[in-house]
Amino acid sequence: MSAFIVLGAQWGDEGKGKMTDYLAESADVVVRYQGGNNAGHTVEVGDKQYKLHLIPSGVLYDNKLNIIGNGVVVDPKAFFDEIEYLESLGVNITREKLVVSDRAHIILPYHKTLDVLKEKARGKNDIGTTGKGIGPCYTDKFERSGIRVCDFIKPEVFKEKLKANIELKNEYIVKVLGGEALNFEEVYEEYSKYAERLKIFVEDTSVRVYDEIKKDKKVLFEGAQGMLLDIDYGTYPYVTSSNTTAGGVSNGVGIGPTMITNAIGIAKAYTTRVGKGPFPTELIDETGDWIREKGHEYGVTTGRSRRCGWLDLVILKTTARVSGLTSFAVTKIDTLAGLDKIKICVGYKFEDKVIDYFPASLEDLAKCEPIYEEFDGWDDSVAEARSYDELPDNAKIYLKRIEDFTGIKVSIVSVGPRRDQTIMVSDI
Ligand code: GDP
Ligand code: IMO
Ligand code: MG
Repeated sequence: MSAFIVLGAQWGDEGKGKMTDYLAESADVVVRYQGGNNAGHTVEVGDKQYKLHLIPSGVLYDNKLNIIGNGVVVDPKAFFDEIEYLESLGVNITREKLVVSDRAHIILPYHKTLDVLKEKARGKNDIGTTGKGIGPCYTDKFERSGIRVCDFIKPEVFKEKLKANIELKNEYIVKVLGGEALNFEEVYEEYSKYAERLKIFVEDTSVRVYDEIKKDKKVLFEGAQGMLLDIDYGTYPYVTSSNTTAGGVSNGVGIGPTMITNAIGIAKAYTTRVGKGPFPTELIDETGDWIREKGHEYGVTTGRSRRCGWLDLVILKTTARVSGLTSFAVTKIDTLAGLDKIKICVGYKFEDKVIDYFPASLEDLAKCEPIYEEFDGWDDSVAEARSYDELPDNAKIYLKRIEDFTGIKVSIVSVGPRRDQTIMVSDI
């Protein structure tokens, strides 16, 4: 049995898309289990670049099954736009290759309207969401008024549920948030066309994933976002609305945790964050700007510039614990090449103690001062390395510090965005 989780160990954008695509070569099935098209996963193969949001990153292979699990929130418009985009790049999408859970929740236009208007109403306390309707859709799921894929594809059920929802949402949108009412007929007409097209992709994916694992197929669970955007363990309220940690897989796919064999944390060699919220090792200086430019740190989904800072091992240790990591894949060590000195945070000074875990309270976190160790840098030749031995010695020392601090081995090192710029250090 082999079922691997690939998850973000920081605030997202660690290179999950690249690593999922790389690992998918030896897998049979790739499954998304949470989030939605707020994600932006980049995959580079040869000179071609693909930007995926909702569709699993195994889709670039012809012979892999890709599954959108029940824990994902599905924007049907975004789903078909992404299929069209992929087809325009020569990627073939068939029912054999892509299935969607009948229990996933549907993102409707009022979710997007609410996302944007609520952010506006929060004023200076806004979260900096992607505006894709993610939070409002998950709110409806937990409030028990959401529309699931199985309801969406039954025209009469969809009509009734949509009508009831739009009436209530319009009250809130117009009277509380000062927005414009949505027109039921227009939404129904447009979305029932998507529903008709979606039907063929729908399946009970819990049964499918279980069967595939039992048949000894290799299954990869592709996380979206990252540890510190988790609704429970992230920097609440500056988080997304799903469980991005390993625990999210079991609920988001519908299989027991005992079926999952490995969890690989994808960690960028430094730290980035998009949107608002605390970031202890943030560099608001020339070095931060240098990293942003060298690493092309601009969002795939919103185009916003990403905040950049030093690697924070307190975060990686927390991820290792919360998600039970079995190894790390460290990406973008080529981006740091050229810096004379590189820092790593190895603890926080908090009041009169030193801590190595991430505090819950943002007020406490604001009092934490990162404690740094300084390392000698390496040069751009790192991007040419294709084995561990070919890595510069200083890069090896850097990677070793990650392993020693977290107690988790670094099994994969990524030295560039392309599939072939990946070093398998040890078995995952
Ligand atoms: P994801 O959301 O975790 O899939 O990550 P994103 O795709 O949002 O951002 C990661 C960016 O870094 C993408 O542009 C990738 O092509 C790129 N990338 C991934 N790994 C590496 C690497 O090792 N080196 C460099 N230079 N770029 C990388
Ligand atoms: P990938 O999968 C980085 C951030 C947003 C915002 C917060 C809440 O590409 O790593 P949401 O729209 O989810 O309600 O926004 O979460 N965010 C991400 N940041 N990478 C992502 O995905 C993200 N998805 C959401 O910027 O701060
Ligand atoms: Mg991303």
